[in-house]
Amino acid sequence: MHPMLNTAVKAARKAGALITRASFDLDRLTVRRKQRADFVSEVDVAAEQAIISTLREAYPRHAFHAEESGKTAEDAEHVWIIDPLDGTTNFLHGNPQYCVSIALRHKGVLQQAVVYDPNRNELFTATRGAGAYLNDRRIRVSANDRFEDALIGTGFPFREFGHLDEYLRMFASVARQTAGVRRPGSAALDLAWVAAGRLDGFWEMGLSPWDMAAGALLVREAGGLVADFEGADGWLESGRVVAGNAKLFEPLLAAIRVR
Ligand code: IPD
Repeated sequence: MHPMLNTAVKAARKAGALITRASFDLDRLTVRRKQRADFVSEVDVAAEQAIISTLREAYPRHAFHAEESGKTAEDAEHVWIIDPLDGTTNFLHGNPQYCVSIALRHKGVLQQAVVYDPNRNELFTATRGAGAYLNDRRIRVSANDRFEDALIGTGFPFREFGHLDEYLRMFASVARQTAGVRRPGSAALDLAWVAAGRLDGFWEMGLSPWDMAAGALLVREAGGLVADFEGADGWLESGRVVAGNAKLFEPLLAAIRVR
């Protein structure tokens, strides 16, 4: 395993242990509302600190772009993109669909990815050019090539509703053409599941870089495709991402391009 990935795995496991401990006593958690339907608990903050201090100890010159503490240096060559707890709303409800997500970008290119699901003890990892893994097993996107048989993941708008009508048109189009649409509630884990072939594709709008970065590298290293809604590369900035196996990617892109 690449040494940087190894350090990221160590950081993700520490965060996972903190999250699991807290999940046994949700009633005692202090939760703050960042805005409507946007919560942060002391666990998000503690997990993020554990991740950053583990990474900083190994790589003191690297920068961080993290959900709870924001961005450090803008111009660093190495930037760690971190969501300490993706799926906070699920977590706070005792709904066991959430994960830790850590990615490393070097000179603008995603190089390392870890998505850790502490409930199933599933560790998804990828290094650019070296494939994607679930625990010690190599993973591939699904081989399904029939859109009508596809199982597609998504995230519904829940905080900002300016694009709700646009989203609902996309939803209707995908729901009509496929075998089913799922909204599990953790975008990073949804993307990891596309990488593992448990979903044939995924799309969402309004995401932040830390929701997508690690999952997107996993999908690519598992043989899938990731793009924005124009089929181009600006998804990390626009927060509009579509991913899928190579055969169903185009039909999914076409299905969400309804006006
Ligand atoms: C959220 C989850 C959710 C997605 C949201 C994200 P958070 O992340 O990934 O599935 O629909 O857009 O913000 O806030 O729980 O880390």
